[in-house]
Amino acid sequence: MAEAKAPYQRGGSARDASFEEAGLRFEVDGEIATITLARPEKRNAQTFATWSALAGIGDSLPERVRVVVVRGEGPSFSAGIDLRMFTPEGVPGQGSFSSVARQDQDTFDKGIERAQQGFLWLRRPEIVSIAAVQGHAIGAGFQLALACDLRIVADDVKFCMKEPALGLVPDLTGTKPLVELVGLAKAKDLCLTARIVGAEEAFRIGLAEQVVEPGELAKAVQEKVAQLLSTNRDAAAATKRLLQGAPTRTLEEQSVAERTEQAARIRALFAGS
Ligand code: CAA
Repeated sequence: MAEAKAPYQRGGSARDASFEEAGLRFEVDGEIATITLARPEKRNAQTFATWSALAGIGDSLPERVRVVVVRGEGPSFSAGIDLRMFTPEGVPGQGSFSSVARQDQDTFDKGIERAQQGFLWLRRPEIVSIAAVQGHAIGAGFQLALACDLRIVADDVKFCMKEPALGLVPDLTGTKPLVELVGLAKAKDLCLTARIVGAEEAFRIGLAEQVVEPGELAKAVQEKVAQLLSTNRDAAAATKRLLQGAPTRTLEEQSVAERTEQAARIRALFAGS
């Protein structure tokens, strides 16, 4: 096998993948950023280059952006990791799992960490991220949807945490949001069976905030974006900080956090009046 640079070796390097290599498009229109998985002919399969480019977007997101929409072109949101990673040849220029398997722990760890950074920034308090999901969202595709704050789905959606069926674990930051959304027992059920979750169940168990017909997905997302932009920017960020911190705080600690955030809000709003 050619000694292509293994994918996880490239993590943290100064050069993140180009959008074309990553199969992504990135557009900013005022306060709205849109990330499009743009390899529909391969069902938006993701490579390390995809994750590296996502991390790069997070690193340099313009400050004015308040809402980030993550969408996929074509019939599927994303069919997960590019299956060429499982072949000896791997993904051209990015290696394969057999090359990853030979890495030392530190290189391996740094590589996955950089990939995870492509997902983690979508939870920043300063933005609200929305996944617009149609068709399949498998493995890394499911985890990308889970990385977002909200999921608006088409009624043909098929979520599947396929990793355990392929001998892997979900490692792109999806396990925590999944447990928080659906509870531990349901998360075990979904992951350890790798079964498909359709729209009705996704809505019922809290994986999706809204289900619409496929042709209505873009409009539903647009409407949600408009609702999100109608609130005060700084209050929205402070409220998101409060909500995200709530699960790990006691009621008393959360009450203190609410007072602290509110004091800052009232001072900012009425200081000079
Ligand atoms: N990687 C690479 N290519 C893929 C792909 C993937 N994950 N998924 C689909 N493709 C390609 C197919 O090979 C096919 O290419 P050709 O036209 O060149 O033959 C093209 O995309 C269209 O695929 P299908 O004809 O299969 O399309 P479909 O609409 O009938 O089925 C699908 C869609 C159910 C998603 C099916 O393609 C599929 O099962 N794909 C594999 C899903 C999978 O197992 N992903 C891995 C998840 S685990 C993970 O992601 C691990 C991790 O995070 C670490």
